[in-house]
Amino acid sequence: MNKENILEVKGVHKRFHSKGVTVKAVTDVSFDVKPGETIGIVGESGCGKTTLGRCIVRAYDASEGEVFYRTREGEEVDFLQVDKKKMKEIRKEIQMIFQDPYSSLDPRMTVLDIIKEPLKANYPKMPKAEMDQRAKDMAEKVGLNPMYLMRYPHAFSGGQRQRIGIARALVVEPQIIVCDEAVSALDVSIQAQVINLLRDLQKELNLTYLFISHDLSVVEHISDKVGVMYLGKMVEFAPTEDMFAKPMHPYTEALLSAVPVADPKYQMERIPLKGEIPNPANPPSGCYFHERCQYCTEKCVTEAPELKEMPDGRLCACHRAEELSLRGFSYEE
Ligand SMILES: Nc1ncnc2c1ncn2[C@@H]1O[C@H](COP(=O)(O)OP(=O)(O)OP(=O)(O)O)[C@@H](O)[C@H]1O
Ligand code: SF4
Ligand SMILES: [Mg+2]
Repeated sequence: MNKENILEVKGVHKRFHSKGVTVKAVTDVSFDVKPGETIGIVGESGCGKTTLGRCIVRAYDASEGEVFYRTREGEEVDFLQVDKKKMKEIRKEIQMIFQDPYSSLDPRMTVLDIIKEPLKANYPKMPKAEMDQRAKDMAEKVGLNPMYLMRYPHAFSGGQRQRIGIARALVVEPQIIVCDEAVSALDVSIQAQVINLLRDLQKELNLTYLFISHDLSVVEHISDKVGVMYLGKMVEFAPTEDMFAKPMHPYTEALLSAVPVADPKYQMERIPLKGEIPNPANPPSGCYFHERCQYCTEKCVTEAPELKEMPDGRLCACHRAEELSLRGFSYEE
């Protein structure tokens, strides 16, 4: 592992087999993460964002690949290969926060018990009083009223339920949090509050985030770097500002053109994406994006572009990346 990194995702594949069909949900995804960074992962529905996140936290077993991780103790491990004993020790260090705060909280448990649950699982010998105290402290940190911790999740609003989910993930003091559409189910004003909370917690607790979202405007606000996925592949990976100012992959350009802007003066011309998202059980030949790409050439139909390093250091998988000059998200008049 590079000394600067906390996480190195290398060649991760995930294939699902069902009813005689193989779905390539994630194909050969690689990227590096430094401690304290936020990496946004974007792309249309079904492009493999959740599957990738789940492979990284080992909720799914990846079909291939490695996820090198630097533990809190400074040890380098392949998170996908560690034995049971080691896993018990370090699993808590990489947590996931889910999309739907309505279905991911057990309705029969009090909020205090929900937040305490990961402590029970990871520290079975911890005295009850200490567990209670840690859970209460964490509840307070995420802005939940300690008076209400004996209530059940249904008594809370969507934003507060997401705070419960955040407290539950943080109570075991992880280093990395995979946030899967963590604010997507919330109203825009509540979204901003939860994002601000996540940012404050990140600074205070020195957290590293993988922030999965189909909403580019949300990702722009929180991410240092963004990875764009299309049909299971990473097609561009770049610092957020560079990507928004000057995308290098035609799919990124199309996604950016569709981001809604409040001020119509700044609205850019939308680049329509032709056709439907192809079926990942039967992907197109060559570049997976070729049927929908306005810059497609003959080579694109037959040859799959590799994710390559560009002169400015970003990664892009397009045969024409360096010759095209694509439109970014401009704030200028
Ligand atoms: N358990 C599973 N079994 C079979 N196929 C699956 C499974 N989970 C996901 N898939 C398929 O893998 C592909 C990627 O799905 P995934 O849920 O990772 O996408 P996503 O980018 O998170 O989408 P969304 O934005 O809708 O959440 C899809 O084609 C999906 O149908
Ligand atoms: S490789 Fe070809 S089809 Fe694919 S994104 Fe680039 S220009 Fe478009
Ligand atoms: Mg998803």
